[in-house]
This record gives sequence, structure tokens and C-alpha cells, in this order.
Amino acid sequence: MSIQPILEVEDFSKTFMLHEQGKELPSSHSVFLKAYPGRLTALIGPTGAGKSTVLKGIYRTYLPSSGRMMFTGSEGQKIDLATADEHQILELRKDEIGFVTQFLHTLPRQSTEDVVAMPLIKKGITRNIAIEKAREILAQLNLPERLWAVSPATFSGGEKQRVNLARGLLAQPRLLLLDEPTASLDPKTTDRVVELIQNLKATGTAMIAIFHDMDLVERLADEVVELKPPVGTEHFFNAANEVA
Ligand SMILES: Nc1ncnc2c1ncn2[C@@H]1O[C@H](COP(=O)(O)OP(=O)(O)OP(=O)(O)O)[C@@H](O)[C@H]1O
Ligand SMILES: [Mg+2]
Repeated sequence: MSIQPILEVEDFSKTFMLHEQGKELPSSHSVFLKAYPGRLTALIGPTGAGKSTVLKGIYRTYLPSSGRMMFTGSEGQKIDLATADEHQILELRKDEIGFVTQFLHTLPRQSTEDVVAMPLIKKGITRNIAIEKAREILAQLNLPERLWAVSPATFSGGEKQRVNLARGLLAQPRLLLLDEPTASLDPKTTDRVVELIQNLKATGTAMIAIFHDMDLVERLADEVVELKPPVGTEHFFNAANEVA
């Protein structure tokens, strides 16, 4: 039997309305993609093509302007993420859909290990075990031990990114969205991340990821989806590609 997608995005588009300036800004345009258990779908395309916007649409940070995003829940139920209500979305974010963004938002007084362990604690795993697992993954990602008990609020970009990744990977959602997860990491830590992503794939997690480095796309992607630039800007992107 062929594997069924956990998410099917059909004709997703997003246009931002800048009300104050009375302007419309097209972002993602007519995107089709699928995510499968145990596989990684890479989103590629030039800067501004709307890659991050697609992930934010799936996570529902943004409401799409049009399109369908059919997600299959853990009990086989079909949910269109484009129209699901806020309550359903919050439930899905708890267990089923995770997002490692380029930025880390945390409370200033929460320790790094608590930040990383939190999704497990919310799932009902005891605090001691969750903290133990958090420390394990922080060590794997080369975050120095002296930082584990302090808040990540003042960490460097690369340190914050490790915390973000540790939390996202440890939570083991059924669908994990990754937006340039290795952008500020050194080559050795990037290799660790590749290994952790491969391990996660082997457990059946579906992933959709944006990598700016094509080498990572080659190492990790099972499917590649290329985003077209927004209508009216193709000429600019074609010219930019010719120069590159
Ligand atoms: N909240 C927003 N309000 C207005 N415009 C936005 C918003 N978010 C994104 N955009 C616009 O949508 C377009 C696509 O942005 P997006 O961040 O999705 O691009 P990207 O493909 O991820 O680019 P990059 O490779 O540089 O990260 C850009 O022109 C951006 O300015
Ligand atoms: Mg982006």
C-alpha cells in the first residue's frame, strides 16, 4: 500500500493587505505540496517567494487568502487547516504540529532546560524525565552545559537556534515545520541536526523544511517543491537568477 500524505496543500495563496498604505502585497502564489510520514518535503525558491509564509499558513500564524490544507489527524480525521477554528488549531499545536522558526520567543525567567522540556511536560510526561531528555538533546546540539539553567533570552543567535531546535525536535509532533533551522549553526552542529532529523524521520515524523543551503536539501529531502515568485515580479527574479 502506498503511504498516504498527512498534509495536502492545494492552491495555497496569501496576499497581505497593508491597510494603512492602501496596498496589496502578493506573497505565496498557488502553492501545491504534500507531506508524508517519515519523509521530508523541502521548500525552495528565491528570497521573497513566500516560503516562510507557506509554513506560517500551515501553522496558522497567518490565514491563507485562498486554498485548502487538508491535514489528517492522529485518529484519521480530516481537518482543513485553512478553515479550522482557533480552538482546533491550538489543540493541533499541542500534539500534532510543531514549528521551529528562525526566532525564539520565551519568557525572560524561564530556564533553557524548562523551555525545551515544556512540550513534553504539557503532554503529561513527568518533569524529571522531561528535563533529562531536554539535557540529552541540548548536549547533542552542543549547547554548553553552563547555559542550561539560565534563560535563553540573552543568548547569541546560534545558541537560540539550538534551543529552538532542541524544543521542536524533542516534542516529536506528527508534522514538523522547519524554517531555516541551521542558518546560524557551525558545520559540526549542522551535522548533528542532520542526524537528529534523520532519526526523527525514521520514527515516522513528517517534515516540511526550508533550507537556504542546497547541500542540506540534497542530504535530507525526499521531495522538493519550488515556489514561483509572486505574479508581476517574475522578471526581477529571472534577472537575479541570471546574475547568480
Ligand atoms: N506580515 C506580513 N505583512 C506584509 N508582508 C509580508 C508579511 N510577511 C511576509 N510578507 C511579504 O511576503 C513576501 C514573502 O515573504 P516570506 O517571508 O514568505 O519569503 P521567503 O520566501 O521566506 O524569503 P526568505 O528566503 O528571504 O526567507 C515578502 O515580500 C514579504 O515582504
Ligand atoms: Mg523565509
